[in-house]
Amino acid sequence: MKLEITGLLMLVSMAASGGQRWYDSEMVMTGMQLFQRNCAVCHGANAEGTREWKKTDATGHYPPPPLDGSAHAWHHSIPQLARSIKEGGIELGGVMPGFGDQLDSQQILALIAYFQSKWPEDIYQTWHNRHMQ
Ligand code: HEC
Repeated sequence: MKLEITGLLMLVSMAASGGQRWYDSEMVMTGMQLFQRNCAVCHGANAEGTREWKKTDATGHYPPPPLDGSAHAWHHSIPQLARSIKEGGIELGGVMPGFGDQLDSQQILALIAYFQSKWPEDIYQTWHNRHMQ
């Protein structure tokens, strides 16, 4: 899985030269379907998450954060995001289940493409300069 992501990432970086989005609309469509099926129940249909994502709930856990660029998903590289999706957060004291058994690397990349398609251009460029150069 790790190698697979690294290999795919090389293709992704080549596609992203010049600060352009690394994914195409077909990938976003695939990711959108996967997202509605697996993630929307917690993160919202448009990846808007929970508005008060910085506050723990009654059980002491953080609610599902937005993935649309308004929280801090953009602080993470593609391999880091892929790892969050694959492993989930339970082992780190969180509540998100891991999807590594159900989704392959390409599907996970499509999911990332989908929620990144929600990121405003300035957020995307900051992320790109930090993680894709
Ligand atoms: C049961 C609810 C739930 C489901 C289903 C779920 N998540 Fe999460 N997700 C969370 C919560 C809550 C967190 C915060 C960490 C934790 O508690 O595990 C999180 C964290 C994340 C993060 C890290 C965000 C950051 O800012 O670092 C990513 C990325 C993510 N989820 C993506 C996904 C994707 C993609 C799916 C679908 C394949 C998904 N999640 C399904 C609840 C969920």
